[in-house]
Amino acid sequence: MLPIGLGILGVVLILPFQKIQNDIETLVDEEFKQRPVGNENWYVFVYEQSSGNFNMHTYGYRSNAIKVSQVETWCNCARNFISKIEYVVLRCSASFPCFWKSTSPNAISKAIEDLQMSLTRPMFTFYELPNHDIVSHVGEFVKGPSIASSNPSIYEFCDLKKPGDSTNLTLRYGEVYDLNLLYSLSSDNAYVTFLEQMESTEVVLDLILCLPRTSSMTSVVNKLHERLIEQLDVAKDLAKDTQKLTSLSLNEFPLFGGAQHPIALWSINGSDINKQKRELLHNLLIQPWQPIFTNPCALSDLTHDVLINVHSGIKSSVPGGSMRLVVGDYGYYHYMQQNLNDKITANDCFMLPVPTTHMEIQQMLVKIGDKPSSFIGSKEWIGSMEIGYVLEELYSTTFRTIHCPSGAQLSQYASQLYDHFTLHGTPVMLGGANLAYIILGVDYNADTKDISFLILDPHYTGDDNLTAILTKPQQLENFKGYACGWRKPKSFSKSSFYNFCLPQRPNTI
Ligand SMILES: *[C@@H]1O[C@H](CO)[C@@H](O)[C@H](O)[C@H]1NC(C)=O
Ligand SMILES: *[C@@H]1O[C@H](CO)[C@@H](O)[C@H](O)[C@H]1NC(C)=O
Ligand SMILES: *[C@@H]1O[C@H](CO)[C@@H](O)[C@H](O)[C@H]1NC(C)=O
Repeated sequence: MLPIGLGILGVVLILPFQKIQNDIETLVDEEFKQRPVGNENWYVFVYEQSSGNFNMHTYGYRSNAIKVSQVETWCNCARNFISKIEYVVLRCSASFPCFWKSTSPNAISKAIEDLQMSLTRPMFTFYELPNHDIVSHVGEFVKGPSIASSNPSIYEFCDLKKPGDSTNLTLRYGEVYDLNLLYSLSSDNAYVTFLEQMESTEVVLDLILCLPRTSSMTSVVNKLHERLIEQLDVAKDLAKDTQKLTSLSLNEFPLFGGAQHPIALWSINGSDINKQKRELLHNLLIQPWQPIFTNPCALSDLTHDVLINVHSGIKSSVPGGSMRLVVGDYGYYHYMQQNLNDKITANDCFMLPVPTTHMEIQQMLVKIGDKPSSFIGSKEWIGSMEIGYVLEELYSTTFRTIHCPSGAQLSQYASQLYDHFTLHGTPVMLGGANLAYIILGVDYNADTKDISFLILDPHYTGDDNLTAILTKPQQLENFKGYACGWRKPKSFSKSSFYNFCLPQRPNTI
């Protein structure tokens, strides 16, 4: 399912071999036959790989293909697309408990229906806007408005610049505005219900809206509410004929390539959609062959708390160097953040941050037998091997370690790291001299052997201020420099050994 505000324009046909014009027209006609009934605004794009030709065909104008001369593809090239077209990404995620009795047939569907009914009552469901004003689902203010207008536009209640003002949204999934759903499920017989033996299911919805900055508040909440009710219809269907269900959740999965929006998929009992469907989606959405539609890759809630992809837009620093950087999204966790002195950078190696605290990592290491139970709550060092074990335990992925006997020899591993970022694109943990760093990429000149490491330093203790992180020299542990920036091998301690932990990206989807 696409975000609210986006629709499907048509399909793209990719032709690996040259075809004659008649054959192409036959293929295009086939595609038009499969367009949604009655949809005349349907386009078929044809990309001929051998010649690089890219043409757009309009329904009803069979032989009048329009040549498309510029297309942005792969690797976030379309990063600024959303800000160019002046769209805003809003998100509303909510989790509902559903209680039911196991004896009645279709009890779960019925429970979801009750939930749906209670959410449609205007005085029980409200949305909190990003500026903390609260509106009912028909757009009446119950708190606010804190802006003059009674029906403000998105740019007003998100405190964004006026339309037409140039802004660059550089953080892919960091620039998301939250709408909180506030609701009351209280009903007259609540007490009676809770005394009986009830079973429960959690229904989790996560809805994304991609809308023009000028959309009005009422249209935003109307559209959102409509979609919410619609999704509960789907949930009812999914729960039909099921006697037991632990969870039913709609998850958002960020796409790779030019796409700036995620797509939503249902997960039953926390399981992934099956491999066949994942394959279909990879082909349909032209996604690279790596995990994208499995649950650890779903858009995380943590994007609300931390900066995402802080390095984006960084320039090369090595003369004649070639940069290889981390692929996918990550969140920047550092010391003294959220007032927690937990001194660790949690970093999911494939997409987004893991909700893992220092304590949870300690517990996990004890559980898998790597550490004695006294380790929990201690200030003992968690090394790169341990980080590898934790990733293995969390995601069943493998890792590779490289031991470097002295900081003076770090540059000898340049080409291995270069290959790692090319092949796997996962962040590398570097541990040594009792300090740990995340390497987000390398800038390497194979001829001169000159190399810089792109370091994300977890020892930063300042505010989540992107400008300060990238451009203001900081006093960090054993280092004065940027919290996120290029560092030469010579900035590391010569008298200490170092270990790299290189998470291996599964060669599957
Ligand atoms: C936005 O990004 C584009 C492309 O990277 C750049 O040319 C432009 O100067 C940026 N605009 C602002 C206002 O930073
Ligand atoms: C979900 O989990 C429950 C409880 O473990 C099980 O009984 C049920 O069959 C599962 N449903 C599906 C569709 O997998
Ligand atoms: C962020 O840091 C920069 C550079 O230190 C500073 O000029 C700016 O005022 C800071 N912004 C905020 C909101 O603190």
